[in-house]
Amino acid sequence: MPITTYVFDAYGTLFDVNAAAAQAAQEPEHAALRDVWPALARDWRRKQLEYTWLRAVADRHCDFWQVTCDGLDWALAAQGIADSATRDRLLALYRELAAYPEVPTMLSALKDRGATTAILSNGSTDMLEAAVNSAGIGDLLDAVLSVDEVGIFKPSARVYDLVGARLNVPPQDVLFVSSNGWDAAGAAGYGFQTAWVNRAGDPVDRLYATPHHILPDLTTIPRFT
Ligand code: LAC
Repeated sequence: MPITTYVFDAYGTLFDVNAAAAQAAQEPEHAALRDVWPALARDWRRKQLEYTWLRAVADRHCDFWQVTCDGLDWALAAQGIADSATRDRLLALYRELAAYPEVPTMLSALKDRGATTAILSNGSTDMLEAAVNSAGIGDLLDAVLSVDEVGIFKPSARVYDLVGARLNVPPQDVLFVSSNGWDAAGAAGYGFQTAWVNRAGDPVDRLYATPHHILPDLTTIPRFT
């Protein structure tokens, strides 16, 4: 089946979610993070995602910024850090996360051959706009789709439905790319072709579907046609 449309998860896939804690840990005012930032980043991400799933199951949707703040507050408490300036700094950095280095070249290659490119993310519209602008990749994306429109988080099918509804493409013509194993599985179960970017070398998630391709990074995405 020819792939016409490449849809990317945002956080962890195009944007490095560990970059905020890594950066703040280098700043003298936030020295409390120096040794603990990897654990803090891991807890922050884990809690942020857990809260999305729990809110989806409980039908208690909120903005992704809310779960991002709540996850950070849990992670800071776990490390015994109560400095509000450190919290503010981490949140500010989260709004301008670095893109992985191969992202601009990869998106340019897709655009050069006329493919459609998009983000489909739990992120709120304003968070995604800030991240896309700070990474300078807005011109390389045809659409930035947020769960804001449907009021539930991934892996709800209502989120994946946004791709067909907004880009007018059947699921089998889409390559959905995510670094989150559960998101790649959810998208495969939905009917997209899927690539899981497994930078950490994690085991495959035991879920109702498995990703079609497993890649170490994003560089080879343009080879999938
Ligand atoms: C996103 C999260 C799941 O961008 O990484 O949707």
